[in-house]
Amino acid sequence: MNDPAAFVREAVDKLRAEIPERAIVAASGGIDSTAAALLAERAVGERAEAVFVDTGLLRAGEVERVEGLFRASGLRFRTVPAEARFLAALKGVSSPELKRRRIGREFISVFEEEAERIGADRLVQGTIAPDWIESGGAGRDTIKTHHNVGGVPRTTRLRLVEPLRDLYKDEVRAVARELKVPDSDRQPFPGPGLAVRVQGALTAERVRRARVANRIVEEEVDRAVAAGTIRRPWQYFAVLLEGRTVGVTGDNRVFGEAVSVRAVESVDAMTATAMILPAELLATISRRVTRELSGEVVRVLLDVTDKPPATIEWE
Ligand code: XMP
Repeated sequence: MNDPAAFVREAVDKLRAEIPERAIVAASGGIDSTAAALLAERAVGERAEAVFVDTGLLRAGEVERVEGLFRASGLRFRTVPAEARFLAALKGVSSPELKRRRIGREFISVFEEEAERIGADRLVQGTIAPDWIESGGAGRDTIKTHHNVGGVPRTTRLRLVEPLRDLYKDEVRAVARELKVPDSDRQPFPGPGLAVRVQGALTAERVRRARVANRIVEEEVDRAVAAGTIRRPWQYFAVLLEGRTVGVTGDNRVFGEAVSVRAVESVDAMTATAMILPAELLATISRRVTRELSGEVVRVLLDVTDKPPATIEWE
């Protein structure tokens, strides 16, 4: 894809043919799905409605940010609060792949209900090339089931429409800039959300810990970027690890959890290089995480692994 304006024109024409009646758009507020939603709106106007699912697995402040973004872009959208059903679907699940499939299934059941409500038979998704390649597309091994690919049950009656399927992240960003999506260079956030940043079984408490740790990493990295200390990493986040570790608070033993901090450089998400953040920034993150999650998280580690052999997210 060399010419984003030409891509947009062709995608809009194609979408008009692919959406004869009504469609809902799976919209997370990320760059991919926001670009897909704007393309669908250009193609069929009010016959497309964006659905934003609050899974309870979003980052701090994400619901307000996404709603603000959609309002600013003039998108027709509806927010569906679904925290309880996602937590219920994930109860006791610690396998990364099972988590991803359960999340995909839950998303689809919300979308089916919403489609029913407005009489839609098409589901527009912002799936991009790495999503289906890593989900085992084109005869490859499944690295991880992206929620919007392998997580979609075969039995859904919604016909999928995926205008960005052949694009890589850097290309989607160019399309998003063409569509005037605010913040087109914002870091990616995976659709399964904090569920894949909490290793092992999820509880509301553990999701909250991951949310606090992710907020601290984002705030401190953003501060260092604004101060000119570092370049903005391609992606930066925290993962709540499985297993417990011994710490001490005051005179007391705490058998708490550990968090790993990860920052990477990448172009297209297919490969990535670990970015070693400055020691001072890491020390600030570590102090804040263990203070703001005092008695809960007692250790902060740094992930220095490239992709491959690791992947970007831990699960
Ligand atoms: P991995 O972890 O596969 O991640 O190296 C590559 C990029 O994709 C994001 N990611 C996802 N995005 N649904 C998404 O929309 C998913 O299921 C998913 N899994 C990973 C990840 O954050 C990184 O930017």
